[in-house]
Amino acid sequence: MSDRSQLIETGTPFQFDAERDAEFERLVKRYPTRESMILPALWLTQEQEGWISAEAIGYIADRIGTFASKVFEVATFYTMYNLHPVGEYHICVCRTLSCYLLGKQQIVDYLYQELGIKPGDVSKDGKFSLEEVECLGHCGTAPVVQVNGEFHEDMDVEKMKALLATLK
Ligand code: FES
Repeated sequence: MSDRSQLIETGTPFQFDAERDAEFERLVKRYPTRESMILPALWLTQEQEGWISAEAIGYIADRIGTFASKVFEVATFYTMYNLHPVGEYHICVCRTLSCYLLGKQQIVDYLYQELGIKPGDVSKDGKFSLEEVECLGHCGTAPVVQVNGEFHEDMDVEKMKALLATLK
């Protein structure tokens, strides 16, 4: 798993595009306090950029009117927020107990063999990235894989192979 305690600086200021800016303003009216907007603002950022940079954390804090450290705490706590650049297809493999016992490692090993990436890596062509994440909440159908947020359950190497074929 990649280091979630370090933010990456891009050297480029971040701001919402017009669509996300309008969505932020729409949502902010629905929440009781502006700090409640940390989670949705992080989602909007990830939707726009694919990941969340140090500059984005500062921007969100300014937009909400809170400390960057609070936004940082939330962003680093939840593994669904990407804190480093990801591929066009971001593959998350659950590594928690049920998935661990039912073969998540064979899937991770297969992805390394097929794509040459380990958890935390992005493929050279930028198409795929891989991450091991904590329980995705579908333990009854382990092992579970998510690709760009979409769930794939009861996975094994053969199913992963078939899924990759639809992404290449
Ligand atoms: S342990 Fe993998 S989804 Fe819960």
